[in-house]
Amino acid sequence: MNSKNITWHTGKIHKEIRQQKNGHKSAVLWFTGLSGSGKSTLAAEIEEKLFNKNIHTYRLDGDNVRFGLNRDLGFSKDDRAENIRRIGEVSKLFVDAGLITLTSFISPYKTDREIVRNLLEENEFIEIHVKCDIDECEKRDPKGLYKKARNGEIKGFTGIDAPYEEPESPEIIVETDKMTLDECAKKIIQFLQDKKYFD
Ligand code: ADX
Repeated sequence: MNSKNITWHTGKIHKEIRQQKNGHKSAVLWFTGLSGSGKSTLAAEIEEKLFNKNIHTYRLDGDNVRFGLNRDLGFSKDDRAENIRRIGEVSKLFVDAGLITLTSFISPYKTDREIVRNLLEENEFIEIHVKCDIDECEKRDPKGLYKKARNGEIKGFTGIDAPYEEPESPEIIVETDKMTLDECAKKIIQFLQDKKYFD
């Protein structure tokens, strides 16, 4: 930490009041998985379903955030760590603001994800492993990036020549190569209802 002589200022409106007003809890749905596994599609689908239930949401997407806030970062291990650290901090602010926040980042390293988990309170970090066989991701190749990685045009591509460390005990696993989009979305929304994030 480089900033010195700073003091935390507490406002009058805090997280619990916001949650009460909104009528639901706030948390982060942290989607992690290979490129092409369906993280962004699933996050967008769930956000729409929650929005239609009058739940306050916001979605942070890997590619989108790299156009702005994280435009200075690449895909080295250190840059990915910084990418996830910043998103963790932004997510924490959004949880404080009372939102159900949906993040879709490959977030390939366990330690980076654990840092975010530890930033938040218990039950505020819901890790969702969007599981999909790499062969299937490569077959889908929605952005043509696996092809480029195989040609050597992209170096350090997750799953090809950079690692993806699977979550050991995620709150939820969805298998997008075995389940439909609707089945995956239902499983996640059911989890949230069972755990009383909303009715
Ligand atoms: S993360 O590893 O730092 O979490 P993030 O989710 O932000 O990655 O960005 C991944 C997206 O960037 C991929 O979906 C893909 O579109 C693009 N991308 C570009 N280069 C790479 C790379 N070397 N490895 C993985 N994804 C890449």
